[in-house]
Amino acid sequence: MAEEIIIEKDLSLEEKYLSLSRQVKALLKKDDKLISNLSNFVAALKQTFEKISWAGFYFAEGDNLYLGPFQGKVACTNIQFGKGVCGTAAKERKTIIVDDVNKFPEHIFCDADSRSEIVVPLFKKNDIYGVLDLDSTSFSAFNETDKKYLEEMCIFISEKIL
Ligand code: SME
Repeated sequence: MAEEIIIEKDLSLEEKYLSLSRQVKALLKKDDKLISNLSNFVAALKQTFEKISWAGFYFAEGDNLYLGPFQGKVACTNIQFGKGVCGTAAKERKTIIVDDVNKFPEHIFCDADSRSEIVVPLFKKNDIYGVLDLDSTSFSAFNETDKKYLEEMCIFISEKIL
């Protein structure tokens, strides 16, 4: 069967997430390799939302995050816990929305065109497993609706896929 994600263009943000979330839960399979599942997940996000310029995972190892599957321009391979938006979200174990990356102290520029970002932590049981990082070339691209559904899909991945 061909893997496919179909999201109608004229849906609201919330409707797009509801449709995406439903399709992601059918697309990702425990029996598939983790890297295959997470690669398809970031591809599904990037193809659904035009506002996303970069979508990918960083995985935790000790006090470091290393680059995982992603869609977008080449990116930094290692980020220390506490550094940048990704490292801060991993250290504080919470989602961070940055409306203007120029105003986030120590933001790590992988792409000079990036303007805003959301980073969602991914847990395995109670341990931090990594983060999901989405970038946009528009200011204030991400809001509480993005946070709600991205967290919901990361919880699905934590509980059913990892
Ligand atoms: N901007 C991120 C670094 C990763 S890239 O955006 C892909 C940060 O500050 O953690």
